[in-house]
Amino acid sequence: MYEKQIEAAAEHFKALLARQLERNENIKSQGDFTDYTKLDKIVIGVCGGDGIGPIITKQSADVLAYLLKDEVAAGKIEFKTIDGLTIENRIAHMKAIPDDVLAELKQCDVILKGPTTTPQAGDGRPNIESANVAMRKALDLFANVRPVRIPEEGIDWTFFRENTEGAYAVGSDGVNVTDELAFDFVVTTTEGSQRIARLAYNYARANGKDRVSIIQKANVIKTTDGKFLNLCKEIGKEYPEITTDEWYIDITTAKLIDPKRRRDFKVFVLPNLYGDIITDEAAEFQGGVGTAGSANIGKKYAMFEAIHGSAPRMIEEGRGQYADPCSMLRASAMLLSHIGYVNESKALDEALDICMASDEYKITGRSDGCTCAEFGEFVKRTLHAMIGAK
Ligand code: IPM
Ligand code: MG
Repeated sequence: MYEKQIEAAAEHFKALLARQLERNENIKSQGDFTDYTKLDKIVIGVCGGDGIGPIITKQSADVLAYLLKDEVAAGKIEFKTIDGLTIENRIAHMKAIPDDVLAELKQCDVILKGPTTTPQAGDGRPNIESANVAMRKALDLFANVRPVRIPEEGIDWTFFRENTEGAYAVGSDGVNVTDELAFDFVVTTTEGSQRIARLAYNYARANGKDRVSIIQKANVIKTTDGKFLNLCKEIGKEYPEITTDEWYIDITTAKLIDPKRRRDFKVFVLPNLYGDIITDEAAEFQGGVGTAGSANIGKKYAMFEAIHGSAPRMIEEGRGQYADPCSMLRASAMLLSHIGYVNESKALDEALDICMASDEYKITGRSDGCTCAEFGEFVKRTLHAMIGAK
């Protein structure tokens, strides 16, 4: 029974295995991280995406251009606008990232990317992979770094979400074996786990954080999560001054709301899907996903984005101009520090702290609040007052 279906599924699985083994080899052959101080010029790609993406990206790119004006004039920084990462264009090419767009992305060193719409299975649109997920894979952006800070509660968390493996590695390549049996796959590699663990521990060491928590579900997802856990623990031994603890993802979601326990967490390292879920929860404590930026770091490239989606409903309801640019602005601050402009990055974060706490310009997502453009101008004025005319 079902011999043909089993055979077809096995063939599909074989192809996936070959591609994943090849990916693992590619990871091993990679060089070291880009040293931005050694580049004559840093190219910043600005890719608006779709939905509210272009609106919030424009404000963030304007703020970056303001902060980097002198560097642009001196030819040390170049902004490059990249169009074409819209759902319409992606469907027209039937590709998560059309080839010409990918080629342009690869000409940049770092990318500021607006949210992009992802078709969901069964919504009537073609089964195109999420552009974020595809970009993370195509540029091998293996670490998704997401900070959440609530100073008044003593919360200062940094999540190191593995970004190219786990349930996402072949998330669009599952198989319907028969009409009644569907299979997805979870992928963990040695190199993939070690490199995210190393980044998390290095960050903890460099920033004086004395605890790294490894989050997983190794009691149930034994093979892949078990491997992730064991490899992270091994790396942890190289950092004797840092306490390593291990938590299952379910209890972690609970402990994040436990006022007695939550502030003990500092640095988290976790597989892709758990990182996706828990960083939305964490961002909510800070004021919502609209307040949280995200850095996607690889050895050669890095991409900075909001942690939320493209909010197509806001566009459908004609509210796009009221979109909140704060998450993209936080991502822009992360971009600045990543390429070595640490003072500018701090200034932007401080300006955002001031602007987000102010009652003068409130973003509500509707016409009773200020527009995205008004908020962007407010941030620039605040920066101007902080650091003087540039
Ligand atoms: C995120 C987003 C993406 C993800 C979606 C849009 C595919 O939720 O960046 O967290 O699941 O990674
Ligand atoms: Mg998410």
